[in-house]
Amino acid sequence: MNFTLRPMQPTDLDQVLAIAEQSPEAPRWQPSGYTPYFVPDPQTHLLRTALVAIDFQASAGPAEEKVRAFAAATLLLDGQQNFCQLDSMAVHPNARRHGLGSALLRAILVWSADHNARHLALEVRAGNAPALALYQRCGLRPEGRRPRYYTDPEEDALLLGMPITSGPPHVRFPP
Ligand SMILES: CC(C)(COP(=O)(O)OP(=O)(O)OC[C@H]1O[C@@H](n2cnc3c(N)ncnc32)[C@H](O)[C@@H]1OP(=O)(O)O)[C@@H](O)C(=O)NCCC(=O)NCCS
Repeated sequence: MNFTLRPMQPTDLDQVLAIAEQSPEAPRWQPSGYTPYFVPDPQTHLLRTALVAIDFQASAGPAEEKVRAFAAATLLLDGQQNFCQLDSMAVHPNARRHGLGSALLRAILVWSADHNARHLALEVRAGNAPALALYQRCGLRPEGRRPRYYTDPEEDALLLGMPITSGPPHVRFPP
């Protein structure tokens, strides 16, 4: 699949919500949950980014881009760790195993390194084998566990994380 990444726009929301709807392992936010990723608050010490992956072969043109995946992240600018949290990521069921999830995670890592983040972290359902395989392959390691953190169905959360070291992200990030 030929795809490109770009920042999420409000006009992508219908497609993003549809992907989330088909991805019960990912957070299912209301449309308003994405608003902070579009409207930066100049007063806040939180930076946010949201990206989409566009299948440009399947897209008829700029007005009809096919969104196949998305990711959203928040960076806490505290002047020390500048902790980055991967808030959500999902790939359309028909577009999985084509490298979109890896590309989005890599782009989030580049973005967080560009903003001097020192650590990336996320929560994942303990039974989410595909996501765990992707994250472990990308260098994330277990940092904790929250028993019965998720509901519907009830499940533990695994906390994964990795340091973001200095240097060009495309060099330090595993292929
Ligand atoms: C988890 C998810 C984002 C992975 O996205 P993806 O685009 O399919 O992942 P990639 O194609 O980049 O996979 C990279 C590697 O991760 C591992 N991986 C991904 N999916 C896997 C699966 N179903 N089984 C085993 N390994 C898997 C493999 O090592 C894979 O490399 P390979 O295809 O060369 O073997 C996707 O399955 C998804 O959207 N799941 C539902 C939502 C979700 O779980 N979000 C994360 C919530 S924390």
